[in-house]
Amino acid sequence: MVSHKNIVVTGASSGIGKSIMDELAAQEGNRILAVCRHSENITGYGDNVIPFSCDLSTKEGVDALFVKAEELFDKIDLYFCNAGAPYYERFDYEDWDRIQRIFDLNTVGHIYTYSKYLHHLNGREGRLVYTISAMGEMALPGYALYAATKFAMKGFQQAIRDETPDNLKISCVYPVSTRTNFFNVAAEGRKLDPPFPVQTPEKVGKAVVKGIEKLKEHIYPCAVFLPSKYLMKAVPPVKALYVKAQQSKLHRFVKRIEKEREGIVEDIKLRHTLK
Ligand SMILES: NC(=O)c1ccc[n+]([C@@H]2O[C@H](COP(=O)([O-])OP(=O)(O)OC[C@H]3O[C@@H](n4cnc5c(N)ncnc54)[C@H](OP(=O)(O)O)[C@@H]3O)[C@@H](O)[C@H]2O)c1
Repeated sequence: MVSHKNIVVTGASSGIGKSIMDELAAQEGNRILAVCRHSENITGYGDNVIPFSCDLSTKEGVDALFVKAEELFDKIDLYFCNAGAPYYERFDYEDWDRIQRIFDLNTVGHIYTYSKYLHHLNGREGRLVYTISAMGEMALPGYALYAATKFAMKGFQQAIRDETPDNLKISCVYPVSTRTNFFNVAAEGRKLDPPFPVQTPEKVGKAVVKGIEKLKEHIYPCAVFLPSKYLMKAVPPVKALYVKAQQSKLHRFVKRIEKEREGIVEDIKLRHTLK
């Protein structure tokens, strides 16, 4: 049981972060600093959940979070680096800022947090939990930049485990598609079919907390993910079929956006003619 702990959960207002927080808030004696940009959305909890707003894609945001956590807690026992966001798109553009934005949130902020947490602990025991993704092990068309941010985290945790002192433990979580706000954000409000299989955030939250109780280094909330990954490696046509389905989905998505844009252009032309 994870109880009587001081905990930070980032990305706590919805989806996977919220489910992790719900599990932890139900256990005795946990105090949770619940973090996202719009913490006014974190409601309905008792005094043991403290909402806090900051932008974790910036150094100032992460620094502010540590200042707040250190005001509240003598020591952060558990730190969930979970906030993150996707893009779903055909990657064919030159836009430095857009590339930078997704890395700042999904990668740079989480790596910077590692050092901040290590220094905060100053030799005391703690656990850092990274929500990576199944996409950090198997990238799919439409998610090139997103998968790149998660592969980067996979690499970071692999190397840092062999550098980090014994007092700081690291757990990584690899959810498959999860029914959260994620796909809405990815497709900027358009309808998007997630890659198969799909699970609920509640299932992920339970699996994460169970994994932490068992001191697992790697947590796979979907039991079929790893066997499927090995099957696809052993039988390449299975992977080819799966990827083909994702390519078709992306193709349809891109066509839909092109049509939307044509519609907007036609609409502007029409309004211009009517004037
Ligand atoms: N859903 C999936 O299919 C899936 C699968 C594998 C891995 N994951 C990973 O799971 C994590 C959580 O995603 P989710 O599916 O639960 O998505 P979600 O429902 O969209 O939740 C994202 C959370 O992150 C917060 N957030 C976003 N940008 C932020 C920023 N700049 N600073 C601080 N907080 C920010 C959001 O709140 P505000 O908007 O208020 O800031 C929200 O609380 C992400 O790391 C994601 O990559 C998701």
